[in-house]
Amino acid sequence: MADVTLEALLQEGRTFPPSEDFARGALLRDGRLYDVAAGDPEAFWATQAGELLDWSEPWHTVLEWELPFAKWFLGGRLNASYNCVDRHVAAGHGAQVALLWEGEPGDARQITYAQLLDDVSRCANALKALGVRKGDRVAIYLGMVPELPVAMLACARLGAAHSVVFGGFTSDSLRDRINDAECKVLITGDGAWRRGNIVPLKEIADAAMTETPSIERCLVLRRTAQADVAMQDGRDFWWHDLVDAQAPECPPEPMDAEDLLFILYTSGTTGKPKGIMHTTGGYLTQVAFTHKYVFDLKPETDVFWCTADCGWVTGHSYIVYGPLANRATSVMYEGTPDYPDKERFWSIVEKYKVTTLYTAPTAIRTFMKWGTQYSDAHDLSSLRLLGSVGEPINPEAWVWYWKNIGGGNCPVVDTWWQTETGAIMISPLPGTTVAKPGSATFPLPGIGSDIVNDEGVPVPIPGGGYLVLTQPWPSMLRGIWGDPDRYRDTYWSRFEGRYFAGDGAKRDDEGYFWLLGRVDDIMLVAGHNISTTEVESALVSHPAVAEAAVVGRTDAMTGQAVSAFVILRSGNEPTDALVTELRDHVAHHIGPIAKPKTILFAEDLPKTRSGKIMRRLLRNVAEDETLGDTTTLADPSVVEGIKARYLSTSPDDEG
Ligand code: WT7
Repeated sequence: MADVTLEALLQEGRTFPPSEDFARGALLRDGRLYDVAAGDPEAFWATQAGELLDWSEPWHTVLEWELPFAKWFLGGRLNASYNCVDRHVAAGHGAQVALLWEGEPGDARQITYAQLLDDVSRCANALKALGVRKGDRVAIYLGMVPELPVAMLACARLGAAHSVVFGGFTSDSLRDRINDAECKVLITGDGAWRRGNIVPLKEIADAAMTETPSIERCLVLRRTAQADVAMQDGRDFWWHDLVDAQAPECPPEPMDAEDLLFILYTSGTTGKPKGIMHTTGGYLTQVAFTHKYVFDLKPETDVFWCTADCGWVTGHSYIVYGPLANRATSVMYEGTPDYPDKERFWSIVEKYKVTTLYTAPTAIRTFMKWGTQYSDAHDLSSLRLLGSVGEPINPEAWVWYWKNIGGGNCPVVDTWWQTETGAIMISPLPGTTVAKPGSATFPLPGIGSDIVNDEGVPVPIPGGGYLVLTQPWPSMLRGIWGDPDRYRDTYWSRFEGRYFAGDGAKRDDEGYFWLLGRVDDIMLVAGHNISTTEVESALVSHPAVAEAAVVGRTDAMTGQAVSAFVILRSGNEPTDALVTELRDHVAHHIGPIAKPKTILFAEDLPKTRSGKIMRRLLRNVAEDETLGDTTTLADPSVVEGIKARYLSTSPDDEG
């Protein structure tokens, strides 16, 4: 990757400083914290841990680093549930709303911190009654209902690690995750709402539980009130019977800073899912720190909405632990952006006067495709800050978001991180960083990162290569459950002494970081490294294009050739003339070398359930291979459709 021809890459010249208004009221108005942290990262993180959290026992050592195993805040004791709930109530904020929950069919609930304390304590007592003890693992398989964060916090209260399994996963996925971590109890529901339909969670869980010997008890929440929910005597208990009958007091277990808080499975491109482990003190410190400063949180006035699902790390860190540790008021939404109509997000923003919206590029590109009439129909003037996470955001989508959702006066924070990093690592600080659309800008204070070439040698600025993290950070994964060797191999063996993130990145001449996607998504065309992200962004910068996915396919002439799959914005026709226009557009923006050899117009793209484009499958299509594993797709029919279309259209093959 050392030979990335930067001149040829997409040039993004637009810059967006924070408005004077925003900067004036921001928690951080200058870059001093970067210097403080760089001077002594350990002291910096210790200050944050002390300021942001309550400890029942102070730590004696900030960091013990035996590469690649880190321990933070050794000797310190604290409880995550206490930090997220009890202490706010004790400080007189019991009446403040913690969760503004919006249910899919239109029902709504507001849960104050005082109510949350009761709910969490009752649930913890119920789990105790079911045999859960400190050190156990509990699987949680629910939709986006308030009982999901309640269950997570109840586990944390007892010192049991939770393993949340996204409610869209199959019984096989649920079974494998339960078995890998040997969970003792499963918390699920009768069903979950999805676009007006019911996902039969209990039925799926029952199928999984035929092959999960470690599960002793199952707690079942009634959400959809379907008629037939089979309950197995002695194993299955209704939440409303068991939890509601408990006392609303349960003393939080003082946990060691390094005790396991949760396991969360992440499915890499190869191999079985990895159980990523996060511990208590470091994780909570960094999620609280990033949530406060990246989102400029004002707990008295902000209404924070992270649209992720609690089944992903984004939901763990920015629906549950970060916001609650910081005593935020958050919106939690059960449904999807398009049900019952395409205005759903914007009516929620208007209804709750959301100030801070944190969502994913895939959602933003969908909104672009639909057009602005849906957001225009609502008063979005409460918004003051926008965030993006999950994939590189194309500059055009960034600007669309800034302009049409933010009304041109909300900073946009593009936040790079991973399940493994636990918290945001690279992001603007909204009151001080001059943003560039498509760039996650700079590593946050206290974070060490670099870009290296194949040999692990740092690439000078400007230049591109592999993103690495160069020093331990508090919320770093503590390993992979049951597989220390895989932890070492996956993250620490590629480059000596540094964490390999698996992402390509470049720095421009001002040192801004530009994430270029997973390294498997870099193409080699006639000897040039070309990032799929940049060709996609060039395509999306054309007014007819809403979304694009680009892959490399084998080519006799150039080694690899660029193959593009394009979704048009509503009102545009898929013509041959447009194909030519788009190819020229890419040539103009990046250079002739990056011109797609083939362009296929599609209705939809194959995406994971968390919204990431699965280029691996599009590569199979472009190479005319049999499709690889499609079980992690949100909708497997999408890629079948594209494959059929691809074979029936003769690819445009002139150079
Ligand atoms: C991968 C991690 C982080 C929570 C959600 C995803 C990609 C994430 C960005 C961003 C460019 C991004 C990377 C990363 N990614 N955020 N702002 N810009 N790429 O967590 O499922 O563990 O995925 O998502 O490729 O490695 P995850």
